[in-house]
Amino acid sequence: MIIAVDGPVAAGKGTLARRIAHIYKLDYLDTGALYRAVGLKILRAGRDPEDPAAAVDAARHVGDVALDDPALREEATGEAASIVAANQEVRAALLQYQRDFAKRPQGAVLDGRDIGTVVCPEADVKLFVTASAEVRARRRFDELIAKGTDTTYEAVLEDLHARDARDAGRDSAPLKKAEDAHLLDTSKLDIEAAVNAACKIIDAA
Ligand code: DC
Repeated sequence: MIIAVDGPVAAGKGTLARRIAHIYKLDYLDTGALYRAVGLKILRAGRDPEDPAAAVDAARHVGDVALDDPALREEATGEAASIVAANQEVRAALLQYQRDFAKRPQGAVLDGRDIGTVVCPEADVKLFVTASAEVRARRRFDELIAKGTDTTYEAVLEDLHARDARDAGRDSAPLKKAEDAHLLDTSKLDIEAAVNAACKIIDAA
């Protein structure tokens, strides 16, 4: 079984996808981490994420970055990831790895932006997880404050709008709900309620 989980930044899809993978005993791939790894590699090399040559070079050597490196979660890395993700050659370089992962015999859960539309259009279940921008910004703000980051809710909301516009507005594999994806709006759901709603959809598939 392949389960595709897509949605905008801070919609809760990572937590949800991990929980689903655990419940259904499937392997899990956070595809955002691949784009973050490309962004991090560029930043560490002192290069510019807007430079296509730097981005493509980093994507070809993305295996050098450990996918559990804590620096992957930093804001600057997420920003760089969002920029390199608009590059068609970067996306092509990461595509095969994601497709091979999905083909594992035990099945897999992949979360990202284009899993249901581009990476695994044949997925057995597609979830499009979203929430209002205000709710997502509030969650992200609480996370950052808990980590000790000095920021404001307004700054987080502004950054989130910019990230949404870049993810949804790019020409190459933009963030978009697949026609056959189930919409899961988590604005009014806590994680337990979101997991329950997702399990209902999966069990009925
Ligand atoms: O989900 P995330 O915040 O870790 O993703 C980081 C960036 O990578 C995000 O700006 C969009 C991009 N991304 C993408 O374009 N396609 C994916 N399948 C996953 C992430």
